[in-house]
Amino acid sequence: MTEQMRLNLFTMNAVEHVSVGSWRLPGDQSYRYYDREYWTDVARTAERGGFDAVFFADVRGIYDVYGDSRDPAIENAVQTPSNDPAYVVPAMADATDNLGFAITKSTSYNHPYQLAREFSTLDHVTDGRVAFNVVTSYLESAAANLGYDDRMDHDERYDRADEFMDVCYALWEDSWSDDAVVRDRDAGVYTDPGEVTAVDHDGEYFDVPGPHSAEPSPQRTPVIYQAGSSDRGREFAAANAEAVFVSQPSADAVRDYIADLRERAGDHGRDPDSLAFFPGIVPIVGETEAVAQAKYDAYTDHIDTEGVLALLSGFVDVDLSELDPDQRLEHIETEAIQGVVNAFTANDDRDWTVQEVAEFAGLGTTSPVVVGTPEQVADEFAYWFEDVGVDGFNVKEVARPDSLEDFVDLVVPELRERGLLRESYTGGTLRETTFGRRRLPDDHPGRR
Ligand SMILES: Cc1cc2nc3c(=O)[nH]c(=O)nc-3n(C[C@H](O)[C@H](O)[C@H](O)COP(=O)(O)O)c2cc1C
Repeated sequence: MTEQMRLNLFTMNAVEHVSVGSWRLPGDQSYRYYDREYWTDVARTAERGGFDAVFFADVRGIYDVYGDSRDPAIENAVQTPSNDPAYVVPAMADATDNLGFAITKSTSYNHPYQLAREFSTLDHVTDGRVAFNVVTSYLESAAANLGYDDRMDHDERYDRADEFMDVCYALWEDSWSDDAVVRDRDAGVYTDPGEVTAVDHDGEYFDVPGPHSAEPSPQRTPVIYQAGSSDRGREFAAANAEAVFVSQPSADAVRDYIADLRERAGDHGRDPDSLAFFPGIVPIVGETEAVAQAKYDAYTDHIDTEGVLALLSGFVDVDLSELDPDQRLEHIETEAIQGVVNAFTANDDRDWTVQEVAEFAGLGTTSPVVVGTPEQVADEFAYWFEDVGVDGFNVKEVARPDSLEDFVDLVVPELRERGLLRESYTGGTLRETTFGRRRLPDDHPGRR
């Protein structure tokens, strides 16, 4: 556990991310997702609050599982329309000095040679402040648009992801030595060819001779984020992730998940303590309990149940319109996101009906919702950090940008007062900000 908690803002370059219906709140500005100034303001606010990073979720495809139709998702702006997060990051980096940016990209629908170059570029222009949230993508509708007859099977997507990362690591870490660029004007040598090597990757999914086309960036490999919760997903996270996005139904389940991931990381020859764990959380804060409760009531009034079910149907790849709203949700093995299913079916403390899930998931989907005064919200953060043993949080918004501004204005001072959150940054790359190291550790497969 780190000495002070880490905070990420969990958001999306879209109208609706995980609080479906919130765009209808009076004054909500999520419609400005396409506006550069919206994002530079978000970046400044997050940096004022001592956040490590703005974490951009992203998705390929449209949520068309619910009712076998895309219309509910389109009508309710369920993660559509959305823009590519990578392109707003340089503007946000320019508006800040220390804030990092985690960008979600899919290993199923990108090519590692191309993606490695994109992240090298981003790492250069942000002075080493990017992270790569590695996802394998779950919507069938993405496959059809990207030249595939079917979505790859769940475990095969991870096999491809393993090889994808091997190629990226080789390009980022091994292809150019630190001394490759000499920029010797007199000799007329910009780069020493002897210091640039091929990667010669010849695999099942990719053949990439290399070398990498970008020179080494400050972090070389961006900070690696992952959120696998199935057995195969955990293996992938244990091998690759530096930071893990936890989605588990209870504090005990989070503890078990962290212990399991650390043990698996050890089996991969990694220092189990080098991984950091971030659950999602939805803080709703007011100066008084009554104010906080009034915000909560307004937020829940705006939940769009149909839109929530459209989102969840895509997450779990089950058409929830076919189930009776009072039906108890049972465990299923899904080809989509196992973690979302588990959040509602693997909880010993309670059973969830479809209707209850739709109502609860309207604010942040699977994460705990904390309503109260700054002290009460800080207590909850302190509990998860100190008693459960998480390293930080992915703070989920409801109203945009009010949720972030409320949190930074009200809860951040309380956390700082308690010594739980940084007062200022130490400077450097995102990996230095979060982990105190500039490069991947020596025991990470990317270095080995
Ligand atoms: C909290 C959480 C957030 C996620 N965010 C994204 C995302 O932004 N984009 C995406 O394509 N997948 C996302 N995923 C999917 C995971 O990265 C992973 O591919 C998926 O959970 C399937 O693996 P699993 O069955 O091992 O959980 C998310 C999953 C969880 C649990």
